[in-house]
Amino acid sequence: MIFGHGGNKTTLSQALGCPVDDIIDMSANLNPLGPPEQIKTVMMENLSAIHCLPEPDARSMTQGFARFHDIDPDTVIAGNGTTWFIYTIPRALNAKKALVLGPTYSDYADACRMHGTATAHWIADAEDKFLPDLEAVSQMAAQADLVFICNPNNPTGVLVEQAFITELLQRHPRVCFVVDESYLPFAADGDEISLIRAGKFPNLLVLSSMSKIFTIPGLRTGFLSGAKPLIDRVMAYYQPWSVNALAQVVIKNIFDHPELIAPFYEKTRSYITREKQIFIDEVADLPALVTVLSHTCFILAELLHHTAFQVCRQVGFDRILIRDCSNFKGLDHRFVRFSLKDRETNLKLAASLRKVLAHD
Ligand SMILES: Cc1ncc(COP(=O)(O)O)c(C=O)c1O
Repeated sequence: MIFGHGGNKTTLSQALGCPVDDIIDMSANLNPLGPPEQIKTVMMENLSAIHCLPEPDARSMTQGFARFHDIDPDTVIAGNGTTWFIYTIPRALNAKKALVLGPTYSDYADACRMHGTATAHWIADAEDKFLPDLEAVSQMAAQADLVFICNPNNPTGVLVEQAFITELLQRHPRVCFVVDESYLPFAADGDEISLIRAGKFPNLLVLSSMSKIFTIPGLRTGFLSGAKPLIDRVMAYYQPWSVNALAQVVIKNIFDHPELIAPFYEKTRSYITREKQIFIDEVADLPALVTVLSHTCFILAELLHHTAFQVCRQVGFDRILIRDCSNFKGLDHRFVRFSLKDRETNLKLAASLRKVLAHD
């Protein structure tokens, strides 16, 4: 496991000698609106669910997800976060050589390492706005049996067209492509780009995290959907009761009320679009900071005269936790990532950055 995921408020609060709750966490990529009211209510009303064993295969919530996306429930598995799938897929598919499109979420490569799957990386350049090159990726995909693509990508926020991925799926029918759509509900055209319903591809698996969009990372829920033969191979490694009882009640309830999901996504998307622009305008005149165009709720920024360590430390004195991206393969000490919150907090971060970046 890599150390240095986002969200470690405890370390910063200990360093500053302040309560954990005083720390503003802008390092974890979560919905700035927080969970929908309905989730909070269902959670509070169903705490007693933990006194019973849940469904061993989380069947009801799986059916809810399948119904919402109009896909066969036998092509979906519910897991203890998408993390469970990321760490199971290389083993379940007996993958020998994986390709990871980077710079990206470190756990794909970590999971491959855990299972002895050799990993190659195709790394997009900052000069190319971190956009992947189809021909170069395709050439490397031909050497792999498993490919990880995060769309939109963490930490760059870059979104690739559906056609980019479907072209790869068609060119390499023997390669399994895992497309991580955990941040896609935040993207303006997320519903059109999603591959969840692209059932015709026999070499596709899609990851959908519930943690990010619904701000429930502690509940640990996510789904894997895709080609039935691949799903069956992952299911062979499924452990009973992987999804806890409370999580099953909450997620089932969400999908029992599909009429609430679309408006919540819409509200989230317009909030993010507006607040992202306001934040970007606020830092636009800082010559030492270049932001990368993001299609989701977080922003990667390049520092021209400072190190990520310096900036995270100084912003930390204002009790704001941001993500030092130097431990992402393909990035270095020049990159930091901010996850947006409410306007007041975002402006507080902008002011804090202004203080730090004013000094060379
Ligand atoms: C791209 C991406 N995928 C998957 C995950 C894992 O999320 P979860 O296991 O909560 O679904 C994360 C968490 O940060 C992530 O950034």
